[in-house]
Amino acid sequence: MLLPLLAFGFSHVLCAGAEKFSVPNVNAAFHKSPKPFEIHVDRHFIEETRQRVAHARAPVFMDAIGDGPSGEIFTTVRDFWVNEYSWNATEASINQKLEQFTTIVEPVIDNTSYPVPLHFVHHRSPRDDAIPLLFIHGWPGSFLEVSNIISNLTNPPNASVPAFHVVAPSIPGFGFSPAPQHPGFGPVEASYAFNELMRQLGYSKYVIQGGDFGGVILRYQAHLFSKHVVSALSNFWVIQPEENDMRRLAEGSATSDEVAYINTLETYINQASGYRLIQTTEPLTVAFGMTDSPLGNAMWMYSLMAKVIDPAITAWTPEEIITWSMMYYIQGPYGGMRFYREVLNDGGFAALDFGTLPLVQLPVAISQFPYDICYRMPLDWAKRGGNVLKRTVNDYGGHFAAYEVPGLLLNDIWSWFGDKEVSGTRVFVH
Ligand SMILES: *[C@@H]1O[C@H](CO)[C@@H](O)[C@H](O)[C@H]1NC(C)=O
Ligand SMILES: *[C@@H]1O[C@H](CO)[C@@H](O)[C@H](O)[C@H]1NC(C)=O
Ligand SMILES: *[C@@H]1O[C@H](CO)[C@@H](O)[C@H](O)[C@H]1NC(C)=O
Ligand SMILES: *[C@@H]1O[C@H](CO)[C@@H](O)[C@H](O)[C@H]1NC(C)=O
Repeated sequence: MLLPLLAFGFSHVLCAGAEKFSVPNVNAAFHKSPKPFEIHVDRHFIEETRQRVAHARAPVFMDAIGDGPSGEIFTTVRDFWVNEYSWNATEASINQKLEQFTTIVEPVIDNTSYPVPLHFVHHRSPRDDAIPLLFIHGWPGSFLEVSNIISNLTNPPNASVPAFHVVAPSIPGFGFSPAPQHPGFGPVEASYAFNELMRQLGYSKYVIQGGDFGGVILRYQAHLFSKHVVSALSNFWVIQPEENDMRRLAEGSATSDEVAYINTLETYINQASGYRLIQTTEPLTVAFGMTDSPLGNAMWMYSLMAKVIDPAITAWTPEEIITWSMMYYIQGPYGGMRFYREVLNDGGFAALDFGTLPLVQLPVAISQFPYDICYRMPLDWAKRGGNVLKRTVNDYGGHFAAYEVPGLLLNDIWSWFGDKEVSGTRVFVH
């Protein structure tokens, strides 16, 4: 099902031979083995960005009707950015909290290796029974999504829950992994690159946790690298309803979970997926504006960020909105936006629908949160995408579970990967 697409994607990536990799406005250098990395963004660029925000032009607002972020949030973020936001403090705090590295991995596809420069977080656990865990972010997130769970993953409160060596890469085009310079780098290629990253770090077997694109990439990766990936926990396991499901819905014979899930999915598709349609069809067109306007880019991202969190738990601060947007704006947001088009090319989207993802044979658990689009998808539907053995329906939280409700996701991670027989993590016992 996948292989023809894989060949298509790959042929375009090939000619990458002797390139030197860099990231605009950042000090990142890439070598063929991991080197420690601290973020140092060019201060002229930071000041120029602030100046652009100071001169940002506002739309002529109507009464708020929910077709985009409000005038109030626009003004609040603008004023905070111009008068209070400290990139210095942000950068120092990320560097202090997250140990980062850069490297080049050289996955082999169809007998040919090609170089992929990566930025990643890597924290090793002091526990000698720790399980290697690949954590994959999505859009409009970044490696920062791992910040609030990483210390409890590496240093859990006691020995009755599993510990993890955590690897959280930036998908190329996001954060500080350089955007691909050629078309064809989608979730298939990302899964090759991330599997190679784990191998380079000495983790020949590992588990994966991911949401959003992380939840998409993990399905390719678990399918393609079943000798290396032992098990996965996805908080974004989407199954597109089939014709028969829709017929049962129309006839009134769908279960309450099915009704709730279809409604959530349709609301998302009809009312909140404009960004996705643009990014799968014409990412470059919109990238001109977003590359030129830091505040426009922040509002573009915030529009979705605001819809998929649990308002009873979280309110995005201006500082978070700016910092999350900087993870795209610093190198330029086009690469991250274009990933949508590559997901379409690899089969993960089909126009407005979620496409056909590879069947995962390995043991999988899924976690659902009320403000995410997979909420209440039934377990029997989930099994259409693979060997899903466990479904946890959480009572609160949203799309960025690791960031927003770290305690809930931690419990799901501990309980799933702690079940050595069912999840398969028995293989890590030495
Ligand atoms: C931020 O850091 C740069 C150098 O890293 C320094 O020159 C500058 O004065 C700092 N700015 C503030 C506002 O602290
Ligand atoms: C890869 O190499 C093997 C052994 O040389 C060969 O049999 C195979 O056809 C090659 N595959 C591709 C896709 O070129
Ligand atoms: C260990 O920590 C977990 C997670 O916080 C908790 O649920 C469990 O009760 C603790 N077990 C012991 C023996 O303290
Ligand atoms: C995670 O660790 C922090 C301390 O770093 C602690 O306060 C918090 O309760 C922990 N969360 C869970 C779910 O164990």
